[in-house]
Amino acid sequence: EQSAGELVASRIATIPDFPEPGVTFRDLTPVFASAPALHALATGLTDPFAGRFDEIGGVEARGFLIAGAASALTGAGVLTVRKAGKLPRAVLREEYDLEYGRAALEVHEGELAPGARVLIVDDVLATGGTVAAAARLVERAGWQVAGISVALELTALGGRAALGDRYEIFSLLQY
Ligand code: PRP
Ligand code: HPA
Repeated sequence: EQSAGELVASRIATIPDFPEPGVTFRDLTPVFASAPALHALATGLTDPFAGRFDEIGGVEARGFLIAGAASALTGAGVLTVRKAGKLPRAVLREEYDLEYGRAALEVHEGELAPGARVLIVDDVLATGGTVAAAARLVERAGWQVAGISVALELTALGGRAALGDRYEIFSLLQY
């Protein structure tokens, strides 16, 4: 019997020099394309936090896929954490550095009840800038970060250390 981690790992593709020279890109689209692998991923990322979150914070774009699957599995709703300029009502905004480039994330103010416990999910933890920005948004909005749960942690990029010890961080796989 394969573990969730083994099933997901068997479907991750590794691409050298994408999107630019020197970056080794881990591609999870084969995981998303496989119903058993996507189900295993959603289970694997939410089980460690069972009973401790009210909403799943999905980070655009790949985090949305995981958040949707995890929502169907657990019954928690999805907090939509979007790239800047896409949300139509009043937003909070946080800028951050990417492994390649710079960007900003936004959430709608008042989207969730005050104090809602949000489990932030994403496909990859690299430098940690993305989930750190998502966590800052959750707190500024008056909600709580239940934890951060990612499919794949790229350990050489130091994201876990950059996030410090404020949040419980779970990664299904480490490369
Ligand atoms: C990727 C990935 C994570 C983030 C990880 O998203 O999906 O969200 O980078 O990098 P970090 O830990 O260094 O912040 P990207 O911004 O490429 O967006 P996408 O999901 O819309 O493709
Ligand atoms: N794979 C997918 N997404 C990423 C990566 C990666 O290696 N690095 C930063 N975002």
